[in-house]
Amino acid sequence: MANKQEVTLGDGCPVATGAQSTTRPTDAESTAKADAREFLRSTSCDMGLGFGHNLNLTASSSRVIPKGGMLYGEYLHVDRLLSCQEPVTRSTSNEVHDEHLFIITHQAYELWFKQILCEIDSVRQIMNRVVSDVDETNMLVITSRLNRVVLILKLLVDQVTILETMTPLDFMEFRNFLSPASGFQSVQFRLIENKLGVKNELRTNYGKLHYLKIFEDPKVIDLIKQAEEEPSLCDLLQQWLERTPGLEKHEFDFWEKYKTVVQQLLEQIKVDADNEPEEQQKAVLMDEWKRKTELFDSIFDVNKHNALMARGDRRFTHKALQGALMVSLYKDEPRFNQPFHILMLLMDIDSLITKWRYNHVEMVLRMIGAHQFGTGGSSGYHYLRSTLSDRYKVFVDLFNLSTFLIPRHYIPPLTPHMKRRLCVMEDIGEDVNNLDINC
Ligand code: HEM
Repeated sequence: MANKQEVTLGDGCPVATGAQSTTRPTDAESTAKADAREFLRSTSCDMGLGFGHNLNLTASSSRVIPKGGMLYGEYLHVDRLLSCQEPVTRSTSNEVHDEHLFIITHQAYELWFKQILCEIDSVRQIMNRVVSDVDETNMLVITSRLNRVVLILKLLVDQVTILETMTPLDFMEFRNFLSPASGFQSVQFRLIENKLGVKNELRTNYGKLHYLKIFEDPKVIDLIKQAEEEPSLCDLLQQWLERTPGLEKHEFDFWEKYKTVVQQLLEQIKVDADNEPEEQQKAVLMDEWKRKTELFDSIFDVNKHNALMARGDRRFTHKALQGALMVSLYKDEPRFNQPFHILMLLMDIDSLITKWRYNHVEMVLRMIGAHQFGTGGSSGYHYLRSTLSDRYKVFVDLFNLSTFLIPRHYIPPLTPHMKRRLCVMEDIGEDVNNLDINC
């Protein structure tokens, strides 16, 4: 490890440091760090300006930097951090070795949950600006922060296997001491769900109770409710997609063009079915035609779409769905590159959370089987299994977009004007016609 500290004193997101450094930075270094800290404050985890929260389970308190700087242990509060592992079996005559691992694993999860919240809050804040100010210049920041969430989640999915090295018999030795503590009471996990956009009405009731009933602290209840009520990442994404260039009726009018080519596609399937001499194959093609006609009808007929929304089968507004489809079909146009990447990352996030749920439920099955209640009072394995359903997938509409993709040669060609609009990041008033850009 390098001796010299490279750390920037940002709020909440420490970077590489020379571990156990023995030198203190000079005054000039301290000033540079303070400047960097100021810069980071304007771009990182918001804790008090909307889209953040200031209950200390996620906020980092501001601190005074001593003139001589700080050492590694001071900066990271290593002492405090390492004194937070207190196995309950230690106070009994039979300390269970694996309880330490159990605690460390949960604490590591909570730390990463905190970082995920920090990223999601910042992305929601930027998205809110993008939606209200039509400012698309921060797309790269959104993309990189979402990508960071993806990487953290990958780590969290894999981390389950470490705890699985504990045997069910070892777990049994201390499980009774845990009740009624349960991961169900993880406030940060609920905040992540709500801030992404898990819908309250689509949740499985927990032992017939609403999920909020488990919490007693009014501050925590307020915090979780606030996260339910604030615009979620899913809400903001939809508002943004509704503004996708090309959807305007008086301009390119993507939706009408798309409907026309889908009609042609369906007619072609029908013609192929009618001309098919072999009876069995003819029936297959006819079935395909009927099924596809019904499916496309469910996005063209706004009433059908709204009925699916009311049932929770679709989450996106009709207009947002059109935007997402347009971005997916014209993803190779420069202006849609980043938006398409964002859609992919959001699907990754959804998939990884489902994978975490799956790994967790498999671990639960291994540890306590399918017929024991959880320490938090739910049916345990069966309750957790229900959370694997699409009802918990926030961006389910993005996954389902594939149903409505059409072969490349059917995609409506862009008009020269539209082609030019999609070459640049933002429309520059009327001048878009005069832009000297070769796409
Ligand atoms: C031996 C290991 C574990 C077992 C046996 C276990 C068991 C359970 C059970 C039975 C539930 C359902 C609620 C209840 O009635 O208690 C639950 C929920 C939960 N657990 Fe675990 N768990 C384990 C490890 C973990 C770890 C390492 C985490 C990481 C933070 C975690 C996070 C959660 C969360 C967030 C929930 C709520 C899930 C939801 O409601 O969708 N669990 N756990």
